[in-house]
Amino acid sequence: MENAERMEESSEPHTSEMLEEDPTEIFDDPDEDQVVEMDEAMFARYQQVQDQSFDEIQIPRSMVDEIQCIWNLLLGRLPSREAAGEAIYDSIMEEAPGIAKLFKSPRSVFALRFVNGLNSLVTEVGSPGAFKKQVETFGFQHLDHDVSAPRVDLVRDCILNVMDQELGAQFSSAARLSMTALLNYVGGAFMFIRRELAGRIKIIQRSWRLAQRLMEAEDAPPRSTTSTAAESPYCAEEDMPKEMEADATNKAAALEKEADDESGSVKSSKQQNLQVPTTFDGMFLFNAAVMGFGESTWMKTVLEHMDAIATNVANTSRLQEECYVLSIHLSKCKDPVNLTEFKAVMLAALRSIVPDEWNMDHEVAWNWLWENVERIISSTIALPRAYEKAVRNFLFSQPEDKMMFLRAQTFKTFFMRCPSGQDFFKQSTTRLYFILDKNYEMTIEMFENPGKVVQDLSALGLRHVGYGVPVELFPPFVGSAVEAVAEVTEDETVRTAFSWGLNLISKILMRVILEGSTIVMKAINLNDEAALRKAIAVAPRQHRATELLNISVGTQSFSPLFWAIESGSLNSARAMIQDLLTIRADREVYYYGCEELFRRHPDIVKRLCTSAPTLLETLLDGFIWRSRRSVHGMRRVNYYIKYLIQDLDGNFSSAMSCFVEHASPTIASHPCCALAADTVWFKFATTYFLLGKLYFLTTLLVFATSQAFLVRHDGQDVPEEVWVIFGCRLLLYMLVLPATLGSIMLKCFVDCGTKNFEHVCGVPIPASLNEFNGLLKTMLMWVLLIMFITEPLIWCAQPNDPEMLFRTSCEEVKEIKMAYSILSALGMLLFWALLLDFSVFSTHISAFLLVCGNVIAEVGLFLLAMFFLLLAFSTSISALNHHLVAFDGVPVWMRSLFQIVIGMFPVSNYYLFEEEPAIMAFLAIYIILVFIFLMNLLVAQLNQSYHGMFADMKGVARLRRQSVICSVMASAPNSRWKAVLSSLGFEKRCEFNEGDVGVAGGIQVLEPASAVAVTHDSIKRYGGSTAPTMPWPAEVEPSDVEKERFDRLEKLIIKSMKSHKKQGHGRAASSALGTSSVLSEDSSQGGSPNS
Ligand code: HEM
Ligand code: HEM
Repeated sequence: MENAERMEESSEPHTSEMLEEDPTEIFDDPDEDQVVEMDEAMFARYQQVQDQSFDEIQIPRSMVDEIQCIWNLLLGRLPSREAAGEAIYDSIMEEAPGIAKLFKSPRSVFALRFVNGLNSLVTEVGSPGAFKKQVETFGFQHLDHDVSAPRVDLVRDCILNVMDQELGAQFSSAARLSMTALLNYVGGAFMFIRRELAGRIKIIQRSWRLAQRLMEAEDAPPRSTTSTAAESPYCAEEDMPKEMEADATNKAAALEKEADDESGSVKSSKQQNLQVPTTFDGMFLFNAAVMGFGESTWMKTVLEHMDAIATNVANTSRLQEECYVLSIHLSKCKDPVNLTEFKAVMLAALRSIVPDEWNMDHEVAWNWLWENVERIISSTIALPRAYEKAVRNFLFSQPEDKMMFLRAQTFKTFFMRCPSGQDFFKQSTTRLYFILDKNYEMTIEMFENPGKVVQDLSALGLRHVGYGVPVELFPPFVGSAVEAVAEVTEDETVRTAFSWGLNLISKILMRVILEGSTIVMKAINLNDEAALRKAIAVAPRQHRATELLNISVGTQSFSPLFWAIESGSLNSARAMIQDLLTIRADREVYYYGCEELFRRHPDIVKRLCTSAPTLLETLLDGFIWRSRRSVHGMRRVNYYIKYLIQDLDGNFSSAMSCFVEHASPTIASHPCCALAADTVWFKFATTYFLLGKLYFLTTLLVFATSQAFLVRHDGQDVPEEVWVIFGCRLLLYMLVLPATLGSIMLKCFVDCGTKNFEHVCGVPIPASLNEFNGLLKTMLMWVLLIMFITEPLIWCAQPNDPEMLFRTSCEEVKEIKMAYSILSALGMLLFWALLLDFSVFSTHISAFLLVCGNVIAEVGLFLLAMFFLLLAFSTSISALNHHLVAFDGVPVWMRSLFQIVIGMFPVSNYYLFEEEPAIMAFLAIYIILVFIFLMNLLVAQLNQSYHGMFADMKGVARLRRQSVICSVMASAPNSRWKAVLSSLGFEKRCEFNEGDVGVAGGIQVLEPASAVAVTHDSIKRYGGSTAPTMPWPAEVEPSDVEKERFDRLEKLIIKSMKSHKKQGHGRAASSALGTSSVLSEDSSQGGSPNS
């Protein structure tokens, strides 16, 4: 029963629940901390903007429902959330021209941020604490804008007008009044915050920025001084608390005394080297040491979070998040934490680091900030320890059936409360439970190791941006999880602890999602090229590439491009690559994203090869610029292939090995790949390839000398020749044979180590043995081994006869000499076959050889068919009753039929067959089948496959060359490579047309103008402003213009219809357009307090 009540109470849980339960409030005096109930009188008052106070208000439930319902109705009515933001933007531009110029962000960016902002306000409207914090945060974002009551009226009316237009009668007067009250409260709060807090916030932001800037300049030589610690800058400060000052002086005096004790020379050198820190952190630690807190670990922990706290002073909810995380860290410290001591050291450090600006206002502002931080931390610091224990014990002690109930109940409640959640959690139940288990683990880890979890959450949040999860689904999800826990346990500490931990996680995730949700990410989720182009069109030209490549939240960054690739939004990824690799230019600068792409993603080629090979061609096409002009029939072509040749550190790029692994002949013969490979090959790799092959050429020569050139078959041995033969064979058996054996074994060993096996007829064999070269080498090794065993020089050696010590033939080897000579011939062939490696020098020859290798299968089929016919006809003819004694038996007929095929059958034998018509008939059929049918079929087949294959084979030949380059480069010397790189001149900017110096990183070649038809320049050039902060002028599609016209017309009609209604029947309508234009003039005159 109690449970049910609790559930009832928290039927709409918010991430903010935890904040509500929490007594702490940022920037509020705790004494005044009270929630004001919005009664009817107050509701009526809020029909006007109120800026006298900014209280936490408890809005009645009915009004909350009204607001949330109408807002969701509006979002549901429009095609997307951003459309609502765009409509409000248009409305502000049209109806409030006086403030329109303040809205500087592009329409789409504003639309996304405004709708997200308004959405979070509406989501939190029912929880006074969280709502106030949201308003406060947005209030701080409006500090720089002159928000006044009439201006709030304007913005509010624009929002209400959009609701009117879109919802019509559904936008009831009750809803209108509720929305008006809400927006007036928000607007009034903005004004209040601006009036009351703007000064303090700005002082803190400015002084922190100054301190940071000094920190950034840390690389500059530090201020060197001969002063001792006693003369440290803070000692001169008047505002330092008295007791601290005294303490510091004592410590400094002690330090000085210590220094005095040392020898004079040491002292003087110390004094000379003593450097006063120039950074905030350094100064803080210096002051802390002097004040006696040098050993305090908790102070260092707070110091690590100082930047996040000071930077987010204007972001209430972020500041609170930082404080919570810091309390978890501090709860782990053994020493007692005294934040007042920290404040003293911090102020001293700040005074020293920004001495020129520091005044009383700074004291007040920083004291105020720190008191607020202190209040939150001191109220939460005791919780994490107990919470960690409670959550850990609870989760680890649950039996599996309870855990299953917990998981199932969480999703059941969540889906019941938010049916739209099912559109995101579409995975199988086991996967969903797995994700929930991860959430449980993360909750425990949040207490154990908050630093790591916060980092992980940044990455996780950015992934959730990719999943397109709206943030308003988080509070109900967390609520469901917390309620499920509440159903399983009665222990109040467990419930609060779990809720606290998971809420903090969810809060961080939501923040990351909001910060990481860019219009580019939204477009990626749509996977629509046009949407992506539209989204990126508004980016400043200098940041255009970065927006496609990097979103940073906290310490984590995330690449929209990689996300698009990973999530399979390949249309978006294609548009992104095309956009990055489009050269754009104003009069001053060329913008080309190639360099940024490779700097951000040095492994882009690898990623595309593995995850999106269809985009490889898009990427490579982007590296080519072709001039439209041709001179003397030749056209300039720039290939920006720097990063296909080298990596960021100047080493050989891994791109080529990725292409080799990808093994696509089409990609390998893409002009960019081909040029990159040819450049490296001819400028560098050839030399090392030839050097590597020199050994092989020598062995070939040695083998040929000993087995072919000097061999005599007449049995006459010339002693000099025999000695040369002996020398060569000794080299073969003692050097070549062991080296070949060693290299084969090494490769097999590596293959076994890396489990690189290929299956031949189901038997796994090391991959290197299955390659053409590996196979040949293995065969050669066996041939040499057997030759060594059967070597006549050894068998015929006569140690007693020095004159004829070695002989190539003798009685003993008569029988094996034939076998030896066959092996020798085979070895010779193998050597020549291995020489085919040299074909890599010419892609034409290499391609021809590959084609030969491939069509051999056709020849094999032909031979098989021929063997079948041979067998069939030899047996059948043999079965005939004939009188030819010389042709008796199957083997004889087989030999004869084979001779016929290869043209070695004596013509005279045909006369013998004349008397045997049956044999003649069979022979005729055989000859027709073999010569007319099979032979021609083979020719036709070879012809066909040659044509089909040759184009591909050129690609394969290129792949072979690239693979050889990769293996050569692995062992090539680095110094020579660097020299080759500098000769390529990638750092020099490459000319486009004459006198037009473009971007660096390319190689220019001239190609015949007729090779490719170029009808337009691929560089997009724009006139007008050349400011890097400006986006490129919009490229307007004709369809967009028409759509815009229709939109305007539609709006005019709706407006005029509304004004008709307002005027009632009394006034005669002249014309719809006429009336509306008059009215809009009226309204702009009447409603322009800012004009
Ligand atoms: C009814 C009250 C208002 C609400 C609810 C509201 C809300 C918002 C929100 C949510 C944003 C986006 C914040 C972000 O960047 O994430 C925003 C931006 C902004 N607001 Fe307001 N606002 C209100 C009134 C005003 C008024 C009266 C002014 C005029 C002085 C104003 C000027 C601006 C400007 C200049 C921006 C930044 C636009 C840009 O990025 O170009 N707002 N507002
Ligand atoms: C406290 C809140 C949440 C936490 C801590 C959380 C955590 C996680 C984790 C750990 C994953 C695992 C996969 C990954 O690493 O990307 C995940 C995936 C996911 N989450 Fe969340 N999540 C939360 C809320 C939500 C909500 C409210 C939704 C939407 C209704 C959502 C939608 C998804 C989706 C669609 C996936 C991808 C699942 C998959 O790849 O199979 N999450 N989440």
